[in-house]
Amino acid sequence: MYPKSKTDLSVEFCGVKFKHPFILAAAPPSDDLEMVKDAFRAGWAGAVLKTTSVEGTDVPIAYPMMSGIDFGSKRLMGMGNIDLISEHHIDVIEKRVVELKKEFPENRVITSISGSSKESWQEVAKRAAAAGADLIECSFSCPQGSMGLKPGMMLGQDPIASAQVVGWIKEGAGKIPVIIKLTPQVNDIAEIAKAVKDAGADAVCVGNTIPSLMGIDHDSFIPIPNVGGRSTYSGLSGAAVKPISLRCISLVSKEVGIPIAGSGGAMNWKDALEFMLLGAGVVEFCTAVMHYGYDIVDDLIEGMSFHLERLGVKSVQDIIGKSLEYIVSHDELPREDWRPDIDLDRCVKCDLCVIACRDGGHRAISIGEERKPVVDDEKCVGCALCSTMCPVKCISMKKRQVEDKAKVKDEVESKKESQP
Ligand SMILES: Cc1cc2nc3c(=O)[nH]c(=O)nc-3n(C[C@H](O)[C@H](O)[C@H](O)COP(=O)(O)O)c2cc1C
Repeated sequence: MYPKSKTDLSVEFCGVKFKHPFILAAAPPSDDLEMVKDAFRAGWAGAVLKTTSVEGTDVPIAYPMMSGIDFGSKRLMGMGNIDLISEHHIDVIEKRVVELKKEFPENRVITSISGSSKESWQEVAKRAAAAGADLIECSFSCPQGSMGLKPGMMLGQDPIASAQVVGWIKEGAGKIPVIIKLTPQVNDIAEIAKAVKDAGADAVCVGNTIPSLMGIDHDSFIPIPNVGGRSTYSGLSGAAVKPISLRCISLVSKEVGIPIAGSGGAMNWKDALEFMLLGAGVVEFCTAVMHYGYDIVDDLIEGMSFHLERLGVKSVQDIIGKSLEYIVSHDELPREDWRPDIDLDRCVKCDLCVIACRDGGHRAISIGEERKPVVDDEKCVGCALCSTMCPVKCISMKKRQVEDKAKVKDEVESKKESQP
């Protein structure tokens, strides 16, 4: 048995206490009552139940709906889906909320809702609130067709329509905090976040899947997923979308200042840490759970708490937004001299840094004695391509010291002098 970490992982989000910040996102892992119960038993702090709607809403799912993009021999750099909202309408979800709240009072139950008119948004919000949901998340970013706007357009792409719908939902939800789930597929996510905040949203979820075309079968020429000889655009999730989510979370944090639930590419505790450092108060997981199962929550809890304990952080709440001050515009970056520092004891002499620098950099690395890479300090500009490519991560970037520059200058001068 390992000792328990002393770090307090509990967080308060929109006034609601979570025992830790890791929750299930609205998706198949939260679309079945017994499955959500298993997730809570496994240790998840809460779940956003898959998006529901009023009775009679048509949910014409097409199968197969999943596909993936691999990276070399590693499976699932990103996952694609053409799923729609849940086939379970609000009458089913109401009962689930009641049962989950009764059996798991320590866990947070978030109802994800969608609508197609003022009446339907308000009805589903009202009933979710009455059933006892701790929070209500509103899907403004389902990429497989919006409810109400022109086909293919997401509600979260229109700030005016978004603000109007938030007003309706808030009326229906009463006192229950409302989270608006935004899409990263916009020019300015901060503009949309500001619009929904001004309209009364209590929080935003940033973000969702990214509209994508997953690939094409090389023999049949039919894009994937192949659904009876046809295909359509998928929503991309998982590791591949994390940098997009990070940017969006940081923009909303910096420019809007509203509680954020982070979603999109969190695969482990390290990703969750990054989401939180940029301002996420809770982190939602979907693809990681669909790939590796509910039990990953153990690693999330252990990893995050021991890491923070090692750093002397007493509460995870203290790290929220802590990296934002380091993000500036390109203009504001310092102009400095950096050089690669190659740990030759760890170098495997694969030549990749030499090739990358030769054909993608400044031709500053050559093969020296015993096939070890040698950096020409004068040609090198410090772009970091070599350290980015190195398969064993034995190249780190170091700030060039003034003495180094002087030394190189002297060497260049003396070389010139010794030339006949
Ligand atoms: C198969 C599938 C179904 C999903 N269904 C919903 C949904 O009903 N409502 C919703 O808001 N998001 C839905 N999502 C999006 C996820 O909640 C999540 O935002 C997205 O997958 C990005 O997070 P991830 O990288 O952790 O998977 C779905 C995702 C997948 C993969």
